[in-house]
Amino acid sequence: MAPFFPVAVEATGMNETRHRVLDALSDGPVSGPALAEDLGISRSAVWKHVEALRAAGFQIESDDAGYSLAEVPEFGGEAVEYGLDAPFDVEYHDSIPSTNARARDLAAGGAEDVVVLADEQTGGRGRLDRDWVSPSGGIWLSILFRPDVPMAHAPVYTLAAAVAATRAAREAGVEATIKWPNDVLVSVTSAGTSSADDDDVLVGGEERKLVGILTEMEGEADRVSWVVVGIGVNANVDPDSLPSEANPTSLQAVRGETVDRRLFTQRLVETFDTLRQTPESVLDEWREYATTLGKRVRVETPTGVVEGDAVDVEFPGRLVVETDDGRQTVSAGDCEHLRPV
Ligand code: BTN
Repeated sequence: MAPFFPVAVEATGMNETRHRVLDALSDGPVSGPALAEDLGISRSAVWKHVEALRAAGFQIESDDAGYSLAEVPEFGGEAVEYGLDAPFDVEYHDSIPSTNARARDLAAGGAEDVVVLADEQTGGRGRLDRDWVSPSGGIWLSILFRPDVPMAHAPVYTLAAAVAATRAAREAGVEATIKWPNDVLVSVTSAGTSSADDDDVLVGGEERKLVGILTEMEGEADRVSWVVVGIGVNANVDPDSLPSEANPTSLQAVRGETVDRRLFTQRLVETFDTLRQTPESVLDEWREYATTLGKRVRVETPTGVVEGDAVDVEFPGRLVVETDDGRQTVSAGDCEHLRPV
């Protein structure tokens, strides 16, 4: 008979007891018998948790005083869950075709509040059914959740993801900005450094793509069943290994050194978690980081081209464009920045 998992995340998410073992070790040293008594489990169960944590890359030292946590792994599901201040299980894969596809499968099985995270994707998908090249060293993740909102409100979660990724990039020292609706860019000057200052764009800087976001959902018009927000962060990857048409850059290329992917992922997920609870606060934060507002834009929408000055964004994510024929709002499309207004 096939093994039964109530929801698939049970198979890989870190369980409550292991969290408590890890917390105790980080306050260690603590002896095996003391830990067993504190947690109400056997000594051999303690030992199994310690071995499983070592296998996941945690460095756990043991001496006469007991066990203590010496180092947390650079990346991985248990590493990201450790110290994560957001109520998500993390399902990690070294390599997977697409975290969005996996999150959709989990959604079909009834899961919620799961982050599917991968080091490499072999069949990553982008917007407009494009490929999304996802080599090892990136942060490829999909957040599955079930908000109690009408389908029409769901685009706000794409903007929330862009804000979360931008904030995490800035905390990592990279002056990222958001291009409507969902690209996170870095303005790279001719000297190769990053800058959020528009003047640099004019004097030869160019906007390069750091993060892409692909949101998928299912539900009835009046209520979403699930949303999967897929976020691809070019973290510790060489931009030359990515398709040049996308004009890519990476956190590593801009910083000149690798980024701590565990901390970056935690910040991203935590900010997203806060924003998803207050969708009405997303637009103000988005405006703060937007590079599109104040620029002349050309947007290819499903119904034609809209060209004009991008003047605002309105709930749940429509771009407001001042055209020669008056104000138009655009819900979806490919946006090109022409020049500052
Ligand atoms: C875009 O075209 O800009 C969107 C790219 C979205 C890529 C991410 S990587 C994680 C998740 N899994 C996928 O297959 N796609 C998204």
